[in-house]
Amino acid sequence: MPDKVLDDLFHDTLKDIYYAERQILKALPKMARGAQSGQLREAFEKHRDQTETHVERLQQVFEIIGKTPRGKTCDAIEGIVAEGEEIMEEFGGTPALDAGLISAAQAVEHYEITRYGTLKRWANELGMADGAKLLDQTLQEESKTDSDLTKLADASANRRAKAA
Ligand SMILES: [Fe+2]
Ligand SMILES: [Fe+2]
Repeated sequence: MPDKVLDDLFHDTLKDIYYAERQILKALPKMARGAQSGQLREAFEKHRDQTETHVERLQQVFEIIGKTPRGKTCDAIEGIVAEGEEIMEEFGGTPALDAGLISAAQAVEHYEITRYGTLKRWANELGMADGAKLLDQTLQEESKTDSDLTKLADASANRRAKAA
């Protein structure tokens, strides 16, 4: 077996997040439909649109490394998305639903943040400034989404969830 190097890790992780982003693209409309508050629904819809751009940026990074865009099953995102679906089933129609949906969505964002943070550093290490820039653009959007969700939780969802 030939030695594997950072390029191989980079390609492998790129396939992981490419798979994950496409799962997220499918999950966000369901979360938007589930949301009780209009503000949360809009936040999910806005991030769905951003996620389309995330997929396109990843395709550009595949192009930079001369590879065909291809995903690799990511068990982590499947688990995180499945937990979100569980919250929708178990808390549907209750005052706690939005707080639960926010927590599920933040788990998704944090997964993305760790992947993009790593990929950006590796892209720099591998001398791919253009790739690093694309990855950083998405990283900034994931972080912003995470803090917007915190604001929605603090502003109303958590308090509503407490109401008897
Ligand atoms: Fe994303
Ligand atoms: Fe995201």
